[in-house]
Amino acid sequence: MWTLDRKSKKPLYEQIADHIEQRIATGEFPPGSLLPSERKLANQLGVNRSTVILAFAELRSMGIVESRTGSGTRVADAWRGNITRHTPNWKRYAENGGFLPNLPFLRKIREALLQDPSMIDFASGELSADLAPIDEINAILNKQSNFAYFGYDNPQGYLPLRQALVEYLYQYRGIRTSESSIMITSGSQQSLFLITQCLTSPGDAVAIEDPSYSYSLPLFQSAGLRIYPLPMDDQGISPDDIRSLFKENRIKMIFLNPNFQNPTGTVLAQERRKKLLDIASELGLPIVEDDPYSLTAYDGLPLPSLKSMDSNGGIIYIGSFSKIAASGLRIGWMVAPHSVIQRVADARQQMDFGPSVIPQGVVARFLQSDSFVAHLERLRIQLQFNRDLLIEALQNELSGLVAYNAPQGGIHLWIKLIPYVHEGKLLDEAIKNGVVYVPGSVYGSNSGFARFTYARPNSQDIQTGIAGFARSVRKLMAP
Ligand SMILES: Cc1ncc(COP(=O)(O)O)c(C=O)c1O
Repeated sequence: MWTLDRKSKKPLYEQIADHIEQRIATGEFPPGSLLPSERKLANQLGVNRSTVILAFAELRSMGIVESRTGSGTRVADAWRGNITRHTPNWKRYAENGGFLPNLPFLRKIREALLQDPSMIDFASGELSADLAPIDEINAILNKQSNFAYFGYDNPQGYLPLRQALVEYLYQYRGIRTSESSIMITSGSQQSLFLITQCLTSPGDAVAIEDPSYSYSLPLFQSAGLRIYPLPMDDQGISPDDIRSLFKENRIKMIFLNPNFQNPTGTVLAQERRKKLLDIASELGLPIVEDDPYSLTAYDGLPLPSLKSMDSNGGIIYIGSFSKIAASGLRIGWMVAPHSVIQRVADARQQMDFGPSVIPQGVVARFLQSDSFVAHLERLRIQLQFNRDLLIEALQNELSGLVAYNAPQGGIHLWIKLIPYVHEGKLLDEAIKNGVVYVPGSVYGSNSGFARFTYARPNSQDIQTGIAGFARSVRKLMAP
């Protein structure tokens, strides 16, 4: 007598569907035969009738059974003489992989953007075509290329780009390093992925800022990590919190985004940087410094990187081309001790044999050209201009209903909504009004916050988009 496994992670309806499918496959229920009624099966198995209805629906979706109103559920005729040919249940395969799906709000935003290309986009964390150095990159692509060979390259990255980055990191971030300590990745996202996969084990504890971009990445949970939040104020995290987290939870690594943090725009204060490094080195605790925004500092003077202040070798520095030039080239970098670089390069070799040399060559040339400096200057001015436009639009449309700190660099404005508005309903209403942004809970914060990125929409769209968002807020505000 078959019974359900009520402790299993597999839902009951799936267990029932699998069991019936098996009985059909063995010929117990031949094609065309009537299956026991939903009510009878529910009684036999001690489950709700709705669970059996779900199981039958699953079998119907695979073409194994057919139901007609009033005449019950039968094994599909198409199964006659064809019992061993099954279509794999792809839906269930797709639900089973160890790598977790993206967060529901993020999937909803992606869907809305795909369905309506005219949607005003305050959600995508990237530069518009106006802000990106499109002409400069096209000019490099159009010039006679001087690649000597297109074989598998070093999985650590194309040497001319690593050489260009040695200069870049010293000039802009005060980091002294060498080609052998740099690994090229497909953006910071991949650096984070490689670090979690190669340097941590399931069950390990890590600390991240709260709120934080990292929280929006199921890749930490996919790696089986336990995440502990480090609360932030307007100066960033408090280094003393690390000591207690370490004591209580044995955290193994800290992930920080100290400059113009995503989503809050906060800069970790200089005194806290020093204290943080002291505490981390005392505890032997590594820090991953995720630094994609520092070169957007509107005054052109970002604080020194943690890596440049670190005398102890405890920092893994990750950078990216995405927020200062073009996210679609998919170029990022990691600076770390040799043992780490060798480990992640070996993983990268196993994954895909390393990054394509073409975008690496383009970025190497762009970094070394005069137009890079000119581009950065223009970018900072334009980003500051967009930030001011967004703030002005919020003041006009939602005065007294929102609070924020104006960021001094980066591309995100973190907004607190003063009246209570249901987070999910607000996003739905905004989408109806042609606007997307990211609800704050995606970054681990309490509801009542939202992230607006001002690098993507143009000036006109910033005004129109905030007007649409304001209409949505007013409609849903509790009376
Ligand atoms: C703090 C931070 N880290 C990493 C990333 C990933 O960027 P990319 O993979 O394009 O370099 C982002 C993108 O929004 C980010 O804000």
